[in-house]
Amino acid sequence: MRLNAWLARAGVASRRKADELIKAGRVTVNGEVGQLNTFVQKTDEVSLDGEPLAKQGLAYVLLHKPAGVVTTASDPQGRRTVVDLVDHPSRVVPVGRLDADTTGALLLTNDGELSHHLAHPKYEVDKVYEVETWTQPNDAELERLRTGVQLDDGPTSPADARRLAGARIELTIHEGRNRQVKRMFEAVGHRVKALHRSRYGPLTVEGLEPGQWRELEPSEVERLRLATTRDSPPPRREPGRAGSEPA
Ligand code: URA
Repeated sequence: MRLNAWLARAGVASRRKADELIKAGRVTVNGEVGQLNTFVQKTDEVSLDGEPLAKQGLAYVLLHKPAGVVTTASDPQGRRTVVDLVDHPSRVVPVGRLDADTTGALLLTNDGELSHHLAHPKYEVDKVYEVETWTQPNDAELERLRTGVQLDDGPTSPADARRLAGARIELTIHEGRNRQVKRMFEAVGHRVKALHRSRYGPLTVEGLEPGQWRELEPSEVERLRLATTRDSPPPRREPGRAGSEPA
């Protein structure tokens, strides 16, 4: 694993901040000053300012995201982020994003491999949204949501749409494009008033109040892994990684 990724996994800093520590010569690997292109093997000893660092294990957290917090690791405008809400010893980051006003199930992890797979269109897991619109969609409009609507970044894949009551619809999609649900409803002539993600793959926010989080059960992690390894996994994109470098 590249040194900056190792430092991020160890909970030391984000990858970008880790690069700064490396450039400043503060990180050593087996006593040698680390470089941006240094790769770390399992048995290597990594130190920061001469202090040996212990690598953290993988962590998986399910947050019931409340409204009014942003889904980034840090916000330049200083708004509260989902990461601020999760007081976990490992540096976990969100998988995908929910808009600031969206509530519901959000997975955070330091497992880059699983995150990458979950975000890959080939493996997109079911995402179930409870949507409330300002005006009531009719049955033909729900059918259009099911078959696919044209968005400015291309048509949407088949989805499930089910009326819960008048203007309350449950929409299940498998993609994860930016503002996808709101844009799908706009495409059929309705603005979204409230949006809640009730399920992400096998994970629901049952038992969690908005703002509360919990660790995943090992069986839940296994189910997420299975959902992303039904076929051969997609190639991992690691910026700058040349084919001849060690893994
Ligand atoms: N689709 C949206 O429009 N917003 C979200 O937060 C999630 C999905």
